[in-house]
Amino acid sequence: MSERIRLTEVSKQYVANKKATPALALDGIDLLIEAGEVYGLIGRSGAGKSTLLRMINGLEAPTSGQVLVDGVDVQTLSPGELRTLRHGIGMVFQQFSLWNSRTVYGNIATPLKIAGWKDADISRRVGELLDFVGLGGKAFARPRQLSGGQKQRVGIARAIASRPSILLADEATSALDPQTTTEIVDLLRSVNREFGITIVVVTHEMDVISRLADRVSILSQGRVVESGEIHQILARPSHAVTQGLVGSYTRTALTDAEKTALRDRFGGRKISVAVDDVLVNSPVLSRLARENGVDFAVIQGGVARVKDQPYGQLSLALYGDDVAIDRFTADLSAQTEVTAW
Ligand SMILES: Nc1ncnc2c1ncn2[C@@H]1O[C@H](COP(=O)(O)OP(=O)(O)O)[C@@H](O)[C@H]1O
Ligand SMILES: [Mg+2]
Repeated sequence: MSERIRLTEVSKQYVANKKATPALALDGIDLLIEAGEVYGLIGRSGAGKSTLLRMINGLEAPTSGQVLVDGVDVQTLSPGELRTLRHGIGMVFQQFSLWNSRTVYGNIATPLKIAGWKDADISRRVGELLDFVGLGGKAFARPRQLSGGQKQRVGIARAIASRPSILLADEATSALDPQTTTEIVDLLRSVNREFGITIVVVTHEMDVISRLADRVSILSQGRVVESGEIHQILARPSHAVTQGLVGSYTRTALTDAEKTALRDRFGGRKISVAVDDVLVNSPVLSRLARENGVDFAVIQGGVARVKDQPYGQLSLALYGDDVAIDRFTADLSAQTEVTAW
């Protein structure tokens, strides 16, 4: 893999008219996105996701720090060079942003026309794209005649028409129902797989990130609070904001408040165990319990899969003598992450 996008200590302060100094929209962001991956940025509303995304194609300038695309500092580009950069970066939006007065064909063809493509090439390319996004018969429909999912398919076709190397998706599924969201997630996934396009997905939906992204950063108040591979983040969300986003999605992990509420309802000592390959592919949990003479009850937990990687969390109440439980916990800690609570 090679580096495609790099942000170094990027901060953004929007200039306000009011006297009060506004909070930083972005505050010291470091980020590395490799060529060919799907990178997720997740966070609650106002976290700075859109601001960050818009810096990658130079729509927003950092107040300080550097944004590099393919090794080039976006801030140093001339207007002409910036146009060339944007030509290589497609973008899709929550509200689709289609031209309502143009047909589906016109929506996809217009950026190619502006880029100087010949009519015959445009016609071939639009046909190809409509087939790819599953809208073969809709070339001459108007956006108002399409469902939300179909509009987003047009948005995606338009965004990848000129064969960009990067696709930025800002809440691309947030206006869609769950079934349509699944279809659009699958389509974005095939954009990545079939054309090798690097995708940066911004969303507040953990469900979307977990099915789409390879790696993810969690943003809160303009900062990256946690980053990693998606299944690791789902298995071991360490920051409270991540735990909130993951917790409401998987429900395998206990929140701190739930632990407090449950602590006295169960006897024994309590631990939470991150589910990993090792816990799924070998009987390590029962073996270590037997070897150390420890019994356990499962308070809450589950094992799920994302892109064939198991993840989840088990919260256990342990019974046995103190020394045995200490040994069991130490042995298990050598295999996966264990937290006592
Ligand atoms: N053009 C703007 N002018 C002033 N403040 C802005 C502007 N755009 C965004 N902000 C502020 O910057 C912060 C981050 O916004 P944004 O990047 O849109 O977050 P997100 O996409 O995560 O919801 C918010 O506090 C928002 O109010
Ligand atoms: Mg946003």
